[in-house]
Amino acid sequence: MSLGLVVAGESHGPALVAIVTGVPAGLVLDKDAIDADLRRRQEGYGRSPHQQLEQDEVEVLAGLRHGRTLGTPLALVVRNRDHRNWLWGMSPWPPEGDPSGKGTKPVTLPRPGHADLPGVLKFGHADVRDSLERASARHTAVHVAAGAVAKALLRELDVDVEGTVLAIGGAVDEDDRRAAIDAARADRDTLGGVVEVLATGCPPGLGSYATKEERLDARLAAALMGIQAVKGVEIGDGFALAGRRGTEAHDEIEPGLRRRTNRAGGLEAGVTNGEPLLVRAAMKPLPTLMRPLDSVNLATGEAAQALVERSDTAAVEALAVVAEAAVAWELARAVREKFGGDSLADLVAAHRAYLGRIAWSRTP
Ligand SMILES: Cc1cc2nc3c(=O)[nH]c(=O)nc-3n(C[C@H](O)[C@H](O)[C@H](O)COP(=O)(O)O)c2cc1C
Repeated sequence: MSLGLVVAGESHGPALVAIVTGVPAGLVLDKDAIDADLRRRQEGYGRSPHQQLEQDEVEVLAGLRHGRTLGTPLALVVRNRDHRNWLWGMSPWPPEGDPSGKGTKPVTLPRPGHADLPGVLKFGHADVRDSLERASARHTAVHVAAGAVAKALLRELDVDVEGTVLAIGGAVDEDDRRAAIDAARADRDTLGGVVEVLATGCPPGLGSYATKEERLDARLAAALMGIQAVKGVEIGDGFALAGRRGTEAHDEIEPGLRRRTNRAGGLEAGVTNGEPLLVRAAMKPLPTLMRPLDSVNLATGEAAQALVERSDTAAVEALAVVAEAAVAWELARAVREKFGGDSLADLVAAHRAYLGRIAWSRTP
């Protein structure tokens, strides 16, 4: 038994859709909690004012009755409210009437650092929009909705997952971060940053050690690297471990099987060891610049400036929420694999029995 997720949706199309499979029956979902995560993803200093206009909310089309999961596929929808301005430009069917609204002219000025050029080369599109609409991070909204379902499941096992910002554009303190964003915006530039996700309450034994498909460290790295603009992932002390001696790199074991330190970030050999899980992700500066970089007009082959489109100055706070959802999703998958069960009661009972078996390891 595992969780499955398929996501569809273009940035300015009618809606984003997620089909979530493998959620046990009997899990209570709270629409307000899911919408609160969707709102957190849209907030943050440095986002474009447009984010506030969209006000995402989740709709559930299947798999839920009276707030309880049925054990059948969940269909989650987040509408793109801005689609009303793109009815012609993003019409799924051949549009009727004269071109109107946004997206009526083909985009031919690829942005360095975005999917624009590799996307049109790969798929043979004549209009860069045919690539950028799907490559855009807009669909992280419905990933956050799926992550909220995963967090609800994990909470039943007393596992909590939380993403936070560590730095934006190299600035660590909150005031410095804001100043860095203000300065970048004034220069019509963009910033990246670093986020951290902490998961507490994970039982030891999630994941396994033999293959990259089983190793939870590999799966978390893939999940985080699968988020747009993430270019580095670190588990525990990560890159810093490479410069230390072994005596200063590992977490010594005390009676009661407690650890003195948590340099491994709660994972040894791809398996949770019962310590808090700690992962970090590094985000590059956003590629859509109000001061565009050099590019080439794909219609003429001539030098030109890249596309300028509404964009955030920094989306690191949003990344913290998206990364939290991604980590929660991977942890919930590992929980489903280890504890199985068609109903939530089955899963909780299996988890309790397992904690009972290893209870000796937690005695002082
Ligand atoms: C939450 C979030 C919001 C983003 N917002 C923007 C944006 O407003 N403008 C932009 O150019 N890129 C934005 N990005 C990054 C691009 O989607 C990303 O750089 C692009 O798809 C190319 O993928 P890559 O950076 O992984 O190579 C955002 C990424 C995330 C995770």
